[in-house]
Amino acid sequence: MRKDKIVIANWKMKLTLAETLNLAKNMKAKLSELKKGTIVICPNFISLADVNKILKGSNIRVGAQNVFWEEKGAYTGEISPDLLVEAGCDYVIVGHSERRKYLLENYEIIHQKLKAVLNIDGLTPIVCIGENTDERKTDRRDFVLVDQLHQALGGIDIVGDQQIIIAYEPIWAIGSGIAIEPSEAEYAHKIIKLTLKDIFGLQIASNNFSIIYGGSIDGNNVKSFADIENIDGLLVGGASIDANEFYKVAKAILK
Ligand code: 13P
Repeated sequence: MRKDKIVIANWKMKLTLAETLNLAKNMKAKLSELKKGTIVICPNFISLADVNKILKGSNIRVGAQNVFWEEKGAYTGEISPDLLVEAGCDYVIVGHSERRKYLLENYEIIHQKLKAVLNIDGLTPIVCIGENTDERKTDRRDFVLVDQLHQALGGIDIVGDQQIIIAYEPIWAIGSGIAIEPSEAEYAHKIIKLTLKDIFGLQIASNNFSIIYGGSIDGNNVKSFADIENIDGLLVGGASIDANEFYKVAKAILK
């Protein structure tokens, strides 16, 4: 059975509070005609509750850009999975490469975060993986992807219809303006699918996981990613902070 496609906007730390709310309103109006698939917007933490209020009743869901692994306690500056649900989130990005780079998150931490998210009903994790320039140049991409997946997912129990989204975001493609060749993305997604099959078996790999691509997707190059086998959707940065551009991306994918 073919999965519903998903398009996720990661607004990172690119907007002011006022710009965030304004863009949420514009997105709500602009994307309302798209009836298929799933659209998710991930604004900054402090806008989550307000963006959720704006988008209530629309076809757009809300996600967070990060999460902490503990439920409650003396963890200054952190936000638990429960708090995210309370703020109206259905999704959360775990282990984005910018957090791996600037906050030194590693796959041990990502594994902890993933476990905490899966403990909470109604929160779907978007787990980020992807090789850097050096790993790509030295032909280590496949090994890196398999290793990251094993570290993030090894020993995780997946029950019922719990969904997990794997976002393949090659670090060299993020914010560079140069997306991966669609055929290369297709190949990398195949590696990811095979690894998930190895870890969880065919049924869970097919039913409980979606694999999406992220890195310099825009309204122009999106068409070449629309019909690729194994690509269940996209995670969009720069092009997602312009309602018209994001509409083009979403429309091309959610058919
Ligand atoms: P860009 O679309 O700006 O390359 O960012 C991709 C990304 O990091 C989404 O999480």
